[in-house]
Amino acid sequence: MAARGGFSSKLGFIAAAAGSAVGLGNIWQFPYVAGQNGGAAFLLIYVAWIFLIGLPVMVGEIAVGRRTLANPYGAYKQLGGKYWALVGLFGIICGVMILSFYNVVAGWAFGYFIQVSFGNILKEPDFAGYFNNYVADYTDNLIFSISFMILTAFIVYKGVQKGIEGTSKVLMPTLFIILILIIIYGLTLPNAMDGVNFYLIPNFDLINGATIYSALGQAFFSLSLGMGALITYGSYISKQDNIISSATMVTVADTMVAFLAGLMIFPLVFSQGQSPSEGPGLVFVALMGVFQTMDPLVARFVGGGFFLLLSFAALTSTISLLEVPVAFLVDEKKISRGKAVSIMAVIIFALGLPSMLGFGATEVFTSFMHYEGVTKSFMDVVQDVFFVVSLPLGGFLLSIFIATRWKNHNMSEEISHGNASYKGSIFEKFFNVMITFVCPVVLGIMFVLTMLQKFFG
Ligand code: PHE
Repeated sequence: MAARGGFSSKLGFIAAAAGSAVGLGNIWQFPYVAGQNGGAAFLLIYVAWIFLIGLPVMVGEIAVGRRTLANPYGAYKQLGGKYWALVGLFGIICGVMILSFYNVVAGWAFGYFIQVSFGNILKEPDFAGYFNNYVADYTDNLIFSISFMILTAFIVYKGVQKGIEGTSKVLMPTLFIILILIIIYGLTLPNAMDGVNFYLIPNFDLINGATIYSALGQAFFSLSLGMGALITYGSYISKQDNIISSATMVTVADTMVAFLAGLMIFPLVFSQGQSPSEGPGLVFVALMGVFQTMDPLVARFVGGGFFLLLSFAALTSTISLLEVPVAFLVDEKKISRGKAVSIMAVIIFALGLPSMLGFGATEVFTSFMHYEGVTKSFMDVVQDVFFVVSLPLGGFLLSIFIATRWKNHNMSEEISHGNASYKGSIFEKFFNVMITFVCPVVLGIMFVLTMLQKFFG
């Protein structure tokens, strides 16, 4: 299996998997979704989904990956035959579609990093208008998102150990340091405590069915679950690694970063009297207002630091998203890594163009569809289909697969490598009950409810 590559150590896997998990989902999306849905009340529901459903699904994915040493398609095929292989293939397609839009948003973050650090954007009086023009103007976006895709492709091309693991081991600690520094700075500003109160005192009035589904989708997206990224990364770990402790560390790190991102953003937003429920523009619009009030040099550092953080977080996620279809081509079609990377990067970039053109550049992709009582852009639709609906569905199918086809005792057997006391322990009972009973039931019900609410409401 040498040709497939692998992580050098348990720490290498944790850095890479936490790098995959920590991304735009944590720093861009989590704070604005929490801001719109009751702050800490949303956080509590989110954390419950993460640990009760997300962690068991993650353990299941890693176990399937390490057992089969294969990409999601190959893994399902080996253990379940050609029909189950379609589930793996669907996961790979979800990954491709997620990366197509993710790379566009990553390009915005990267563009803002360059412009805040070196440009005149901090002098713009109307930063909301600026953001709207910025995302509508595809010339800039094209340059930044192409650059981001090339960087991602280069790292994936370098391979699992040198590229993915090496990059994640440097970027993850750096990201953490930047995050802590900005939090400390934010907490010293006037009215910062109003932001902390808004974030940490739960407001259950804003919680309803839709909040509960969106917290589930958010949990799957944030942990990179449901499409096989962790089957793929799991196929690169050693038999000596303890899957339960690795998965727990990745889950805790991801949740910590989402929590801390809120703690970074709300004090900054409140200190300038901006709205915490701004929506997707929260970090690009509200935070710019905050940076503008600072001394220009400080603003370049704090603002530039922030967008650098966002770009780093995005990069360790885009590499995991690209690795999945690349591993598929390398394993199944026996083509070289370099070729697989080039083919996939071009296809995915092209699939992202309609998302990029859906912010005012073209009418068709901006008002692409109409449901849930609102007009949806192309990117909104891709997100609804391939992440809000499909990732929890992928988790549901994985748990049904383990329950009915691969079977509990085989999963236990795989987990017990690197964890001698697992069999017979309370952990084994917990994960077995969760994967074979709770996850299928809860995720099945949630799938039906989400479909009803989204498309038939
Ligand atoms: N977890 C990443 C984030 O939070 C996104 C992602 C989803 C990455 C699925 C890989 C697979 O931004």
